[in-house]
Amino acid sequence: MSGFDKSWLSLREPADRQARDKGLVADLCRYVRKQPEPSLLDIGCGTGSTFRSLNRELPPETQWHLLDYDPQLLQAAVASIGAAPAVRFSQHDLNDLAHLPLDGVQVVTASALFDLCSDRFCAAFAAHLAQLGCGVYAALNYDGQVFWSHAHPLDEAVVAAFNIHQRTDKGLGPALGPDAAESLERHFAGHGFSVKTAESPWQMDRNQAALQRAFLEGFREPCLEVGGVSENELEAWLIWRIAAIDRPESRCIVGHKDVLALPEVNGPASG
Ligand SMILES: C[S@@+](CC[C@H](N)C(=O)[O-])C[C@H]1O[C@@H](n2cnc3c(N)ncnc32)[C@H](O)[C@@H]1O
Repeated sequence: MSGFDKSWLSLREPADRQARDKGLVADLCRYVRKQPEPSLLDIGCGTGSTFRSLNRELPPETQWHLLDYDPQLLQAAVASIGAAPAVRFSQHDLNDLAHLPLDGVQVVTASALFDLCSDRFCAAFAAHLAQLGCGVYAALNYDGQVFWSHAHPLDEAVVAAFNIHQRTDKGLGPALGPDAAESLERHFAGHGFSVKTAESPWQMDRNQAALQRAFLEGFREPCLEVGGVSENELEAWLIWRIAAIDRPESRCIVGHKDVLALPEVNGPASG
């Protein structure tokens, strides 16, 4: 298990909320409001960021099931969300797709998850959901694009190394990294779903200095593992980049994509 840090997840949550494409959230909410007994399953829930982002926009009777394989993150989700009667929590490894608790669920939600998954996983996931006529809202899939307003000569090499690492196995097969949104779109469209995608970039300036610093620190291990940039070069780049956060007009944009795939209205999509 890779293990996501709670403080990293809480640091990124406001930027994620800001970045989510509002149009896709509106489409999702419209679809959920039409359901007589609305029920959502959030996979890879972490500490419950997706629930906190969406819940106020959904009908109060919406049932939520939050699922993760990391017991510490689940515990944090329970502590944050509390014992609301409409919310359940389960520990579950997504490698066991066949036993995902999907009874009565109309839409599976996920945030910052599918870039960790393989194309094979997405194919099997889409086929499974298609059999059940269940949709998916997959937000904040990293798309491989990072832009800094103040350029450094090593930016391209560092991002390239980082993106190579994004494609390594995180426990669900060779990870899609920047290709996650495209894979979801292809597989769900192949089952006749109506698929919409939208960009959901983080737009960071000095007001997000802590998130920017943590994001930059997160390059160290992956880039050293992959190589392509020497340790000295990387450390010098990090010092320069962290100092640049406070420069006038400094901005950093990190590309993400959101995907909403819903079964066509004339009955469940099939495989
Ligand atoms: C980047 S975090 C995102 C968490 C949360 N959705 C959010 O937006 O803050 C990815 C999450 O996927 C979970 N995860 C990764 N692999 C998993 C697996 N095989 N089964 C279940 N959960 C998994 C991690 O424990 C982590 O909570």
